[in-house]
Amino acid sequence: MKRAIYPGSFDPVTYGHLDVIERSLKITDELIVGVLKNNAKHPLFSVEERVSMLIEVTKHIPNVKVEAFDGLLVDYACQSHANIIVRGLRAITDFEYELQMSQTNYVLNPQIDTVFLTTRLEYAYLSSSTVKEVAMMGGDIKKFVPDIVGEKVREKYQLRREKNE
Ligand code: PNS
Repeated sequence: MKRAIYPGSFDPVTYGHLDVIERSLKITDELIVGVLKNNAKHPLFSVEERVSMLIEVTKHIPNVKVEAFDGLLVDYACQSHANIIVRGLRAITDFEYELQMSQTNYVLNPQIDTVFLTTRLEYAYLSSSTVKEVAMMGGDIKKFVPDIVGEKVREKYQLRREKNE
């Protein structure tokens, strides 16, 4: 039984992430989506909110489990008995960061390999940051994220606007 981890911030999950999740299941039997409790990055959503949105939008996909994690990714993978890390690669600009991360992880634990899936062309431009920027400026994000996620993003910015008033 092959088990892989797809780690990330998922702040929030986009169609690009969902595409990687679905395609990962061609190379693994089980996929754990690991959501980093990255308070240092000042995420828009709490880790609980990010996990809950991911559970909702992946509920139709079998063999996917969503969890929060902190600490080193390789330690989390080891504890979860997963020896594959999956990451999506959008463009050459992702490459340097991803290469550095995968090589560091390999040195930390050579039992765990990183596998890259190149993002489908239609999502190559897409990132959680741009989704947030568009939403913050009142733009339409329905082509970028599932409806329930779009609703939560809009609620967040609405709340922020109200608080600033
Ligand atoms: O979606 P992101 O923010 O690009 O995901 C980054 C993530 C979560 C994969 C990365 O920050 C991570 O693995 N953090 C855990 C800490 C760790 O293991 N650091 C050493 C790897 S260089």
